[in-house]
Amino acid sequence: MTKKLYISTYGCQMNVYDSARMADIMAPLGYTITETPNSADMVILNTCHIREKASEKTFSELGRLRNKRKAKQEANNGDMIIAVAGCVAQAEGAEIMKRAPYVDMVFGPQSYHRLPEMVAKATRGVGQILDTDFPAEAKFDSLPKDAIDQNLSAFLTVQEGCDKFCAFCVVPYTRGAEYSRPAADIVDEAKRMIDGGTREITLLGQNVNAYHGLDPIGNDVSLAELIYQLAELKDLKRLRYTTSHPLEMTQDILEAHRDVDILMPYLHLPVQAGSDRILEAMNRRHTADEYRRIIEKLRAARPDIALSGDFIVGFPGESDSDFEDTMQLVRDIGYAQAYSFKYSARPGTPAATSDQMVPEAIKSERLARLQELLNAQQLVYNQSFAGKEIPVLLEKEGRREGQLIGRSPYMQSVYVNSPPHRIGRIATVVVEEGNANSLRGRLKSGSVADAA
Ligand code: 5AD
Ligand code: SF4
Repeated sequence: MTKKLYISTYGCQMNVYDSARMADIMAPLGYTITETPNSADMVILNTCHIREKASEKTFSELGRLRNKRKAKQEANNGDMIIAVAGCVAQAEGAEIMKRAPYVDMVFGPQSYHRLPEMVAKATRGVGQILDTDFPAEAKFDSLPKDAIDQNLSAFLTVQEGCDKFCAFCVVPYTRGAEYSRPAADIVDEAKRMIDGGTREITLLGQNVNAYHGLDPIGNDVSLAELIYQLAELKDLKRLRYTTSHPLEMTQDILEAHRDVDILMPYLHLPVQAGSDRILEAMNRRHTADEYRRIIEKLRAARPDIALSGDFIVGFPGESDSDFEDTMQLVRDIGYAQAYSFKYSARPGTPAATSDQMVPEAIKSERLARLQELLNAQQLVYNQSFAGKEIPVLLEKEGRREGQLIGRSPYMQSVYVNSPPHRIGRIATVVVEEGNANSLRGRLKSGSVADAA
């Protein structure tokens, strides 16, 4: 009998990848994915701890699940296993079990390969299960090898964890030390994805450009080297990687952007702030000008590269003039898109105990100004595509009848009118209009190359 599994995924793409692997692991146990928690036999909350009141959100979500489970039991419709996974689980596992005793299992990002065991225990009613062990190798080694991700565009985790210890960030504590998967395992996984229909792969890592895996004879493989290896795979049309740290933006990666056709001209390279004083307080270990130089070199290697970044406003001690430095850096670089956040104190991180907290009202005002600038840049960037022809990977149907949504090399969503049978192909699109968040265009007649 098939059982229904609902997975709710919060936070970064790493969690999206992890959720997909959890679904793979549960499939042989008879669990199929369902889109609603209502009558699910098992619910997994795959949580994110990076910003804001993540644990409170988790607890209120758990409260709602508890009611759904009760309703299910009362309707004689069986039970519901409730699990909390991800970084909130890693950071606050014991607390969750105490405050929400109805939760069956709590496990961190490095333990989900043991799900079958945990589910077996939960169904035998052995009480709550807590598994927040660390080593990442064990997990990757025991992920099902035959699972195929049939998404046209898929994520592939190559590296996990972070040794950078930025003063605001919980990742080094929740995801642990940097770990790179062996290159051959990654190439094998990519091949399986491609056999299953994937045409675009995004290599994932908290610090993906710090990737240093080993080849079968024990030589070091850098991210650039891995990219060259993957670019050889037949039928792989596009490669991306995220998220990178400026300190590891090495010459060989710049060269890969120049030389590897399928490596897309888009880079997410967070800088967080534009003031050297704040960068130092954040423990970023580079200056604003060093970041500017990296971008110059990148643009020299790949002139059309689209840039994205992350910004934090209101880091403890940030003055008006520090914030102006961030605004200036944004003006100097010119982003195609970016993410920006108000600083939020994360328990256990060095910055959280600072006595120089910036008042909420100032943070809000700075964020509004920064976002206005970033949105304006994004609009100008998108508008600059009007009249151009770009290759678009057609990914899925849009909301409107007869419409498809695809992606440009530069990460923009592109809307075109096309019958659905073209999904999976790379088509030349003539852009008619660039909007705040997407492009709209039409297929150039006779241009559709078969990518499938
Ligand atoms: N407060 C605000 N933003 C944060 N980020 C990470 N930690 C915090 C925090 N404590 C942001 C950074 C990072 C992105 C993933 O989340 O900009 O690059
Ligand atoms: Fe967090 Fe800094 Fe590591 Fe990024 S580099 S995951 S912001 S500690």
